[in-house]
Amino acid sequence: MASSIDPAPARSSAHSEQLGGQARRDLADAPLLAAARGATPSRLPVWFMRQAGRSLPEYRSLRQGVSMLNACFDPALLTEITLQPVRRHGVDAAILFSDIVVPLRAAGVEVEIASGVGPVVSTPVRAAGDVEALPELHAEQVAPVADGVRMLVSELGEVPLIGFAGAPFTLASYLIEGGPSKNHERTKALMHAEPELWHRLMSKLAAMAVTFLRAQLAAGADAVQLFDSWAGALSERDYREFVLPHSTAVLDGIADAGVPRIHFGVGTGELLPAMRQAGADVVGVDWRVPLDEAARRMSRDAAGPPAVQGNLDPALLLASWEVLDRQVRRIADEGRAAAGHVFNLGHGVLPETDADVLTRIVDLVHELRP
Ligand code: CP3
Repeated sequence: MASSIDPAPARSSAHSEQLGGQARRDLADAPLLAAARGATPSRLPVWFMRQAGRSLPEYRSLRQGVSMLNACFDPALLTEITLQPVRRHGVDAAILFSDIVVPLRAAGVEVEIASGVGPVVSTPVRAAGDVEALPELHAEQVAPVADGVRMLVSELGEVPLIGFAGAPFTLASYLIEGGPSKNHERTKALMHAEPELWHRLMSKLAAMAVTFLRAQLAAGADAVQLFDSWAGALSERDYREFVLPHSTAVLDGIADAGVPRIHFGVGTGELLPAMRQAGADVVGVDWRVPLDEAARRMSRDAAGPPAVQGNLDPALLLASWEVLDRQVRRIADEGRAAAGHVFNLGHGVLPETDADVLTRIVDLVHELRP
């Protein structure tokens, strides 16, 4: 079933650019896409968050002398980096090499990625004027990313490409705090003290995410993941009031593409049903809640139970193979309780991980019954 995304804007004039859509590849039988639909895949699909990155020596050598963000705007380089883990591990999906702050940088926000730290914003967004000054993203500003996506889908064969964006809350936290934050205190304070301003900021970030995702989809991405890495810092009540409407707007804004939408966060055991309600087909689960329990928590969803992804603790990649073998089999067993299962980590690959361990996990997952 070949479908193409309508270039018309889904929600507002903020993303009214004409995106030259191209026909999506017909990969209906790809294990990742089958599992995401709740069909039985030919094998249990596996990929790893942050599979492209510092665990790979070939990545480290390509990145010599190139800043993270410059790499993200170089179509040939981002294509090569995205392909590296697919070639090496035989994973069932490629994830676009990019970063959640790429749309901010593309729109003109001064943001850098400091090695070992993460995104750093030179002028944090804290007052009404800062929110008003936040630029809109136009699709042509992420043209190098779309060019990379087009190169990737022509090189990936039968392997689906997952595009992604940062969810409004996680982006808002970086913008308001000015960098990574343990407690998200300024973010939570602004949310509660100035709810109107908060919602204005979140609406702008949602529009940006839709533009960024639609550019990737128009260029041929086969699935998308919305990363709300820090949503687990919130109570369910605050999540529903301050975040859910905006993440829903992002996922609704790409629904017409008809591709699986994966929604992921860390520490979100209490938020899983709400994250499902935002419109996800697949809900990402960290290592704190087993997949069968995650499936149970979402079983009463009006749209039916979703597929799940995740749960292997990335720290355990540094343990012995005996430990990992047991964990991988446990997760595969527990995943069968869900409507679909995509094998993954509970969060990204840590840089100190031995890449050969990832390959060995892929081989084991592929031997297990889906
Ligand atoms: O392989 C993949 O998963 C695709 C690439 C990817 C990167 N960042 C590459 C990257 C993805 C999907 C992201 C998303 C991202 N970026 C998130 C959401 C996922 C998550 O981890 O929770 C977040 C919160 C960010 C922000 C960010 N960017 C952080 C916290 C860091 C790490 C800083 C560090 O050096 O430890 C980055 C930088 C970054 N993004 C790297 C990579 C490979 C490391 C930079 C480098 O190699 O120099």
